[in-house]
Amino acid sequence: MRIRFGVIGAGKIGSLRIATIKANPSAELVAVFDQSKAAAERAVAGTGAKACTDLKEFLDSGLDAVVVATPCHLHEELCLAAFAAGTHVLCEKPLSNTVEGSANIVAAAKKAGRILAVGFNLRYYPMVKFASKAVDEGLIGNVTHIRVYCGHDGIHKFHSDWEYKMPESGGGAMMDIGIHMTDLARYFLGEITSVYGSMSESVWHVDGSEDNAIAIFKNPDGIVASYQTTWDEWKGYKSYVEIYGDNGMVRAAYAPMSNLLPLTISFLPLTAAESIVGSPWDGGLMVTLAV
Ligand SMILES: NC(=O)c1ccc[n+]([C@@H]2O[C@H](COP(=O)([O-])OP(=O)(O)OC[C@H]3O[C@@H](n4cnc5c(N)ncnc54)[C@H](O)[C@@H]3O)[C@@H](O)[C@H]2O)c1
Repeated sequence: MRIRFGVIGAGKIGSLRIATIKANPSAELVAVFDQSKAAAERAVAGTGAKACTDLKEFLDSGLDAVVVATPCHLHEELCLAAFAAGTHVLCEKPLSNTVEGSANIVAAAKKAGRILAVGFNLRYYPMVKFASKAVDEGLIGNVTHIRVYCGHDGIHKFHSDWEYKMPESGGGAMMDIGIHMTDLARYFLGEITSVYGSMSESVWHVDGSEDNAIAIFKNPDGIVASYQTTWDEWKGYKSYVEIYGDNGMVRAAYAPMSNLLPLTISFLPLTAAESIVGSPWDGGLMVTLAV
């Protein structure tokens, strides 16, 4: 049986999700809904799927699952409409621009008895999967602490204002890229039950959109993660997750992308350190294991 997908929002990320659906033999692209007729038509070209500018027409297309890839302040109403129509939902991050909106989406999924997933795609990057496997196989021993970091060089990188203006985005660097690091900290630590931190708006001065945030997370066993996210990273997107254990450590990282793109990185022997070659865009840039 093929899963019948509809996609809401045919922009940058919606287009990537549409390409993935088209490439997967277990999935079928049935309809695309966008406020822009041209964008919806471009997205379905050559697929036989329906291009919709009307939400009801889209939801009446016999869908099993919907991908929500619109600006963040629209996620809540669109997820609620999709659950009311009986579909499963993959919603892009952040789930909503407000805590209440997120809670409402979770409640609607439970009420409808449908699956809700959030677009935390970093978990599936080859470098993160490698780190996860090293931890699961006990290569580094018991986890003693974690560091997560993600930054880029600021708001001039965004293509639309909604991406960094708080009423639509829900916040600054934390909602934009830090949220992936919060997710990875939870992925490796389990539930986080204590958070202490601070944030500032001293670089870009956008009201309600922090450009730096630093925090300490703790799980119920007292294992800590240090967290940092910034829109003040010089020279491009840089990110890492480092997991330390009592027998070694494993790091999955992008060095600053703009420096690395022209380079070719080669494999090291699979002993003390391993490098995974790949494009930064598919998440397979660099992994280090030291035991
Ligand atoms: N998972 C990731 O790593 C990742 C990366 C970047 C962005 N995102 C998330 O993906 C989502 C979309 O971001 P994007 O960069 O693709 O945005 P985008 O601006 O490129 O695309 C948004 C699309 O939504 C459409 N749209 C806007 N309002 C609409 C409405 N009322 N009804 C129907 N369609 C509407 C626009 O016409 C546009 O085609 C956001 O939640 C963003 O945070 C996720």
